[in-house]
Order: sequence, then structure tokens, then C-alpha cells
Amino acid sequence: MLEFHTAGESHGPGIITLIRGLPANLEIDIPFINQELSRRQSGFGSGGRMKIEKDEVEILGGVRWGKTLGGPVVLGVKNRDYENWSTIMDPRGSAPSSYKEITVPRPGHADLGGMVKYRFSDLRNVIERASARETVGKCLAGAVAKIFLRHWGVKVGGFVESIGEISAQGELSWEEKISRAESSLLHTYDSEREKEMIELIEEVREEGDTLGGTFVVVAQGVVPGLGSYSEIQERLDSRLAFFLMGIPGIKGVEVGEGFRSATLRGSQFHDEIFYDPHHPLFPFYRQTFRSGGIEGGISAGDIIWARCAMKPIPTLRRGLVSVDVKEKKAVPARFERSDICAVPRAMVVGEAMLAWVLATAYREKFGGDSMEEVEAHFQNYLSYLESFRCFEDG
Ligand SMILES: Cc1cc2nc3c(=O)[nH]c(=O)nc-3n(C[C@H](O)[C@H](O)[C@H](O)COP(=O)(O)O)c2cc1C
Repeated sequence: MLEFHTAGESHGPGIITLIRGLPANLEIDIPFINQELSRRQSGFGSGGRMKIEKDEVEILGGVRWGKTLGGPVVLGVKNRDYENWSTIMDPRGSAPSSYKEITVPRPGHADLGGMVKYRFSDLRNVIERASARETVGKCLAGAVAKIFLRHWGVKVGGFVESIGEISAQGELSWEEKISRAESSLLHTYDSEREKEMIELIEEVREEGDTLGGTFVVVAQGVVPGLGSYSEIQERLDSRLAFFLMGIPGIKGVEVGEGFRSATLRGSQFHDEIFYDPHHPLFPFYRQTFRSGGIEGGISAGDIIWARCAMKPIPTLRRGLVSVDVKEKKAVPARFERSDICAVPRAMVVGEAMLAWVLATAYREKFGGDSMEEVEAHFQNYLSYLESFRCFEDG
């Protein structure tokens, strides 16, 4: 029902996102979308590109006087760097005579597979669309999803847990971790470990190498009963894995304590069920969320969380071993301006994808062509959840 598509190349004129399935009369908060775009650009360890681009959304369709019209919404961001690439990336015309094709694929990128798949002789054709610049489009979709979710009391956040071998430490609440991460250069919550992480990034930069790490994305205030156990396509956990795994560079996704669960006893892992008629949202509640807040593909109520592992950035200044596909000779892979570590930025994209999955689930559960109708269906569901409250007299 809710769907998004992105288009655009890294150094082309811009990136756009087309969103289908939004209800009419949703207020589009442009400053918030710009704030999300700027969060995607922040984070220590970024390369030079982020100094050139200052992403700002333009609304190209589907919105009038600040509100959605019920049709497809098209959002776009201009690539400021396009002015330096307008000849090489011109959608019209042909290659200038001085142009040299790129023929050395970078290991860890789509370069080689993309060249074979699409029968390109110039790897530039692959690099441009496979670039993580496309995540601007994912963040546009995610920002709109967050705006929609706000109406139902859902907040989405995240934090970086580790960079290379250094892990953040401290037993803090979700709120505390997320709020500390907001003011951190690396979007992490442990300021002591953050200094070590920054030193490590500097060290690795000197060596011409790169780093990966892990991050967590969390949603709070989610109603129980989203998703379904009935079909693989409807499970919230399948969808979450699909959208998080689709972020470039993500090599592992676990819902809750996914991998650790394999080492625990049943009594240590499962989130036991409690009842308190005064508990907000739903009187049947959990004190732990080791399952990520999803059981049988359905939201249990309140928290949903997942952890992602990002591989080290594949473009290295020191150059990995590769082969010139034209000359068939061994040569070091090309270096093109690149991040050293993009985990903090990927975390923002992860938040966008979590928000997207939840917005889709809310759209499916509550339907409606306008915000007014969604609201009516949502209130009806809240009344149903209320009916589980049973107060003792007095
Ligand atoms: C926000 C973000 C920024 C990234 N920046 C870079 C970068 O500067 N250089 C690079 O080589 N890879 C970067 N990557 C990772 C690559 O895009 C990714 O590894 C590559 O497209 C191959 O996809 P795969 O790792 O999913 O197989 C970034 C990823 C994200 C999410």
C-alpha cells in the first residue's frame, strides 16, 4: 500500500523519492525533513563530499499548501556537486573526446557485477547509481514516515554501538542512549569510548584504511498487533530485515538480541508478560525487549528495535588488489573521495528504514484515504486496547 522509489545518480542533477499511498491532509514539515537530511550528512569520519553538499528538500508534487493531496508525493534534493560534473554526468549529449572510461573495479562495490550485468564498458555507469548518495532518497521517505508516525505517538531514534573493535558501554535507558547520541559526533552515547573511536578513525585514516561498526535503531510507542504471523510478506521482522539489509554496506541485521539469543536459555531470553491496568498504551506489557519487540512477526507493544552491522568502507586510499577489465592487468583499485567510516550516517538511514516499515504497517492496519479517516480508525483501535484494562473497585 505504502511504497517508495528513488531515482538519481551520485553526481547527476539530483536525487528524488516518489512516495505512493500516503493519506490526504498529512502536514509536511519541511524544516523537519531538512533536519533529517542534515543528520544523514553529519558524523565524524565522513569524506570531502559532505563539505560540498548541503541537502535541502524540494517538493515536486503531491503537496499543496503544506498538506498531502492523497496522490503520489515527489520529493527531490539537488546535488550541488553536479556543477563540477555537468559534462561527465550530462543526461543529454555524449562523452567528450577527452573522457577516459573507468575500467578498474573496486572490490566491495557493485562495480564488477554491475558492469557484467548491464554490459557497460565504463564503470562510472555503475558507480553513480550504486553510490550511497542514494540514501538521501531513503532518508526523504523515512522523514515523511516519521512525520506520519508522530501522529500516533511513535518516536524513532538510534545510536552507534561500536566502531571497529571499540564498543560503547553503559546501562542506560533507550531515551538516554538516543538523547546522548544526538549531541555526539559519532552518534554514540558513551563519551569516553567516543574519544577512543575518534582516535581510531584518525589512525585508520593515516593508514589509508577504513572502518565499520554497529548501530541500533529503536521505535517507542508502537501499538501491539502490527504485522502478522500469517504470511512471510506481512511479518514485521521480515520487513525490517529486508529494509535494513538494503542499506549499502550493511552486512548483518538482528532483530533484538538476535545472535545472542542462540547462546541463552529460554528462561533468559523470552520477554515475560505482565499485567498492569495503569500501564500506558496496553495493560499487558514487557519489562524486557530482547525479542526486539516482535513475536511471531507481530509488534508486542511499545518498543521495536534492531541492530545492524556495517562493513568497513570499500573504497580505500591504500587501494585493494584489482584488475583492469580492459587491459586484464593487475592494478590497485581506484580511490575516489570517500568516507573512512560511515556508521554514524548509516544509522540515520537505518532510522529512516525502521520508520518506513512501521509507517507501512500503520497504513495497512488503519487504512483510510485521509488523515481524518486514519485518525478515526486509530482511535477505534485505542478504545479496543483500553477494553483490556480492568480496574479493581476503589
Ligand atoms: C551513509 C553511507 C555512506 C557511505 N559512504 C561510502 C563512501 O564514502 N565510500 C564507499 O566506498 N562506500 C560508502 N558506503 C558504502 C557503500 O555504498 C557500499 O558498501 C557499496 O555500495 C556496496 O554495497 P554493499 O556493501 O551493500 O554490498 C556508504 C554507505 C552508507 C550507508
